[in-house]
Amino acid sequence: PETTTLAIAIGYCLGSIPFGLVLARIGGYGDIRKIGSGNIGATNVLRTGNKPLALATLLLDSGKGAIAVFLCGYLLAPEAAIPAGVAAVFGHNFPIWLKFKGGKGVATTLGTLLAMAWPVGLGACATWLVVAALFRISSLAALVGLALAPAFAWYLHQDLVMWASVILAILAWIRHHTNIKRLLSGNEPRIGKKKEN
Ligand code: G3P
Repeated sequence: PETTTLAIAIGYCLGSIPFGLVLARIGGYGDIRKIGSGNIGATNVLRTGNKPLALATLLLDSGKGAIAVFLCGYLLAPEAAIPAGVAAVFGHNFPIWLKFKGGKGVATTLGTLLAMAWPVGLGACATWLVVAALFRISSLAALVGLALAPAFAWYLHQDLVMWASVILAILAWIRHHTNIKRLLSGNEPRIGKKKEN
């Protein structure tokens, strides 16, 4: 129990680093929360028009989730890995530094899934890419990719990862409620079109 508590604390702290916010500020774009959707994630950083900065946000936000899983799994105990990963996504979505108003957790979830069970993470990433290629809508790709993650985990007999991905998928869907509304009304902006939102 103490190990799990420590893993959750480490995961939360790592996850709560808002890389998108920091990088956009360093890049001279000011407060990313005042741009586009107002989200602190890579998709919204892309709306600055700076692709390398968006890619860096994606890699760092997913990397912090993966690092939380590996770090706690190796240093604390193998069973600490999954709680650490889930906590990292909660840290990203509800960071104490931003008065608990954080992101939607897509990149961080993908990073933790890749670290927990890479074939599951790969399946979710591949789904994201296929849906994004077909529809050019980041949120739709995330909603479908994360919803399918538990199915991939189930198929691969990764029971604990399945339950973790169920929690993370539900959380992501809740965090995307405004995106879902826009998707249903046909107003969700497409990737690469800057002036629609
Ligand atoms: O990663 C979040 C993405 O799914 C949606 O981002 O900025 O379009 O709300 P955004």
